[in-house]
Amino acid sequence: MDHFHYRGGHYFAEDVSLEQIAGDVGTPCYVYSRATMEHHWKVFDAAFGDHPHTILYAVKANGNLAVLNLLSRLGSGFDIVSGGELERVLQAGGRASEVVFSGVGKSEAEITRALEVGVRCLNLESAAELERVNRLAGDLGVTAPVALRINPDVDPGTHPYIATGLRENKFGIPPEEARCLYRLARDCQHVEVTGVACHIGSQLTQLSPFTHALDRVLDFVFALQDEGLSVEHLDLGGGLGIPYIDESPPQPDDYVQALLETMARRDCRLPVSIEPGRAIMGNAGLLLTRVEYLKPGNQHGFAVVDAAMNDLLRPALYQARHEVVEVSRGTDTPECYDVVGPVCESGDFLARDKLLSVKAGDLLAIRSAGAYGFVMSSNYNARPRPAEVIVDGSYHHVVRTRETTAQLFDNEQLVPQ
Ligand code: LLP
Repeated sequence: MDHFHYRGGHYFAEDVSLEQIAGDVGTPCYVYSRATMEHHWKVFDAAFGDHPHTILYAVKANGNLAVLNLLSRLGSGFDIVSGGELERVLQAGGRASEVVFSGVGKSEAEITRALEVGVRCLNLESAAELERVNRLAGDLGVTAPVALRINPDVDPGTHPYIATGLRENKFGIPPEEARCLYRLARDCQHVEVTGVACHIGSQLTQLSPFTHALDRVLDFVFALQDEGLSVEHLDLGGGLGIPYIDESPPQPDDYVQALLETMARRDCRLPVSIEPGRAIMGNAGLLLTRVEYLKPGNQHGFAVVDAAMNDLLRPALYQARHEVVEVSRGTDTPECYDVVGPVCESGDFLARDKLLSVKAGDLLAIRSAGAYGFVMSSNYNARPRPAEVIVDGSYHHVVRTRETTAQLFDNEQLVPQ
């Protein structure tokens, strides 16, 4: 469900026409719908009913301060993977006590800062990391709350670059090893193991990998309990997919129901956290771009637009497919185009084989770009990164101004002689 729609042949974000935004802010530009993102967050939250739970929005999907601030106002917690994301959350008014720190490579500085501000939990991924956290917590004179991230060896059935729960992936700890680590952690003076965590991948379109992984997590929890080791909470990660073109992933409430039923079947009522990123922001955002040229091609034409792979990397990196719509519905017979950017690589495409009725100067919207869009953008080809706008009813707010060309070389110096 999203709040982007046509009104009289013109594409709108909530009650604001995208032509108006392009006129005010320029292109390329990311446009997010506040109503859509808030709705998605609330659906996850409501689906848990009275089961104790926390929604930890995955900051990596879209870390704009305004996005984090709005979610924080709804009561969201946050899943972070770097010191930079931690500072973003704090800057946006998020509470450290609602932050969970994931990731395989936390540095000493990142762990120290997380302990100083008092994050809710560090999800650990190795014995070496346990040793590091214990030592740094000792230096600070605090006890670090930690969870062990299990690698359940479950195939999420998604693109290999975003699968994380298979044994060959760098993430998590195999359950057998994790049991030894749990015992080790119990003897660490400055660490308290409070939970078990798991995240098997992103853009999952089936429920069964989630429930299989959860079953493995529960096997692990019960094995610990048999040894007299207690677990206070489960963090089941993110990963729920969204419809980009023709995918039909489970709805958030069906996903939550499946998790709760799996737990109920095994008589487990532990508090649960989930870490959705894409399912909250993906379809709450689009990339607005203008056609610079139409160019004939061998098989079909190219619509050369002013956005490129540096603005939206997903098609080039994961062969991801995004829907493209005309901002003003054309009247000419549609023709088939590859929508490409100005970057000097043949991998610079935003969409392929799209039937569009367009001419130079028209606006296009690349849909489902609210997650892993701006956050993965770069300055490749010395292209300033786009502006970001949040639409709220009939208002639109620039929440990040377009980068200037001068900013691109702000941090560079010449060699003196
Ligand atoms: N929790 C952990 C530990 C994660 O690693 C991730 C995503 C999430 C939560 C959120 O997953 P989500 O609900 O958004 O699927 N750049 C890729 C996606 C990378 C996902 C990495 N981890 C893309 O554009 O498809």
